[in-house]
Amino acid sequence: MSPLIQLQKITKSYRLWTESLTVLKWIDIEIEAGEFVSIMGQSGSGKSTLMNIVGMLDNPSTGKYIFNGSDVSELTDDDQSLIRRQNIGFIFQSYNLLPRTSALDQVIMPLLYQDVGKKERIERATIALGKVGLAEKLGNFPNEMSGGQQQRVSIARAIVTNPSIILADEPTGALDSKTGVEIMEILTELNREGKTIILITHEHEVDVYAKRHILLRDGNVIH
Ligand SMILES: Nc1ncnc2c1ncn2[C@@H]1O[C@H](COP(=O)(O)OP(=O)(O)OP(=O)(O)O)[C@@H](O)[C@H]1O
Ligand SMILES: [Mg+2]
Repeated sequence: MSPLIQLQKITKSYRLWTESLTVLKWIDIEIEAGEFVSIMGQSGSGKSTLMNIVGMLDNPSTGKYIFNGSDVSELTDDDQSLIRRQNIGFIFQSYNLLPRTSALDQVIMPLLYQDVGKKERIERATIALGKVGLAEKLGNFPNEMSGGQQQRVSIARAIVTNPSIILADEPTGALDSKTGVEIMEILTELNREGKTIILITHEHEVDVYAKRHILLRDGNVIH
């Protein structure tokens, strides 16, 4: 079987006025289903750029991205969105929750794009929030929750569609270390259940949860 994710000779450049900035220079990475991989590297080394490509939120400038055996580089944005919604859940440093929206409604949101009836939407979102320990907070708005609780809502939102892959970009970056440990334990449990986890971090205490470590420097994979 081919690896779940294959990045082959990926480059990414941004055009700025007359100059062009090459952020990813030559990326060859393979990730198998079920792995827990971290991506480390200094600020500006291209981690988020790489994650956006893996998550099909952005396309590489050159190179090939093979997902589950098929080349996604050639797909339309709509087809990429479909693959993304069915397979990938995202977690961001800043939670990216909607203001004035309850925890339950945040988590229901991704299901609105799928063929799931209202009753099942509520059931599944309730289960996902229970799983991250927020069964008591279904009706809370983001401004009525701690940072760790908001991040747990965002994890529930990421897993409610039952994706096989979780992409987490500095999920503990805005949290104190104790709360960060709680978040990492949830990710570890999701990996134990079989989900592929790709974690961006620059904290050593967070990196140790991953089973394989990829280091980026100036747009290259160092190891
Ligand atoms: N849309 C864009 N247009 C131009 N330059 C960009 C764009 N997005 C990112 N860059 C540049 O690409 C480089 C890598 O950015 P990226 O966000 O991938 O870094 P990072 O490793 O995630 O850093 P951090 O740890 O600070 O989050 C930076 O120099 C950034 O300025
Ligand atoms: Mg980043």
